[in-house]
Amino acid sequence: MVAKIKIGLASDHGGYELKESIKSYLAEKGIETVDYGTNGPESVDYPEFAVKAAEGILEGEVDRCIIMCGSGIGISIAANKVPGIRAALVWDHYTAKMCRAHNNANIMVMGGRLITMDRAEEMVDVWLETEFEGGRHERRVGKLDELAKKYWVKYLEEK
Ligand code: RB5
Repeated sequence: MVAKIKIGLASDHGGYELKESIKSYLAEKGIETVDYGTNGPESVDYPEFAVKAAEGILEGEVDRCIIMCGSGIGISIAANKVPGIRAALVWDHYTAKMCRAHNNANIMVMGGRLITMDRAEEMVDVWLETEFEGGRHERRVGKLDELAKKYWVKYLEEK
């Protein structure tokens, strides 16, 4: 049983179609969503939408996000620039499950030009149902925040 959760969605033009399909799928499941765009197939820049999704999480508007660009690569790189965001580029049931269980990913990323809707539904389901295992993984995830503190703070101080 999926707990009550609010999911943010975002994409560039390469992920737009998949985003719209996932939005409908989540609505069928009774899951509330916030759509951070893009809102059509016109060419746009994926970092802008990655940041909207990331801010949605950091500001507490949504619990987690699902985002996509054409390959999933650009938008995941962009989202992972935001401290506190753990965006995982996934492609099957196993990676969607493990990014929750071991990495506590708060953003799941897909390649809109690579993932079929059947596959996407399977990944969305397992990602929603899987809890973070904690334990030794808590320590490892904590080390990700340490990296952000060390390198981002240093980078910004020296800038
Ligand atoms: C857009 O053509 C494409 O480059 C973008 O969607 C994404 O795949 C970038 O990583």
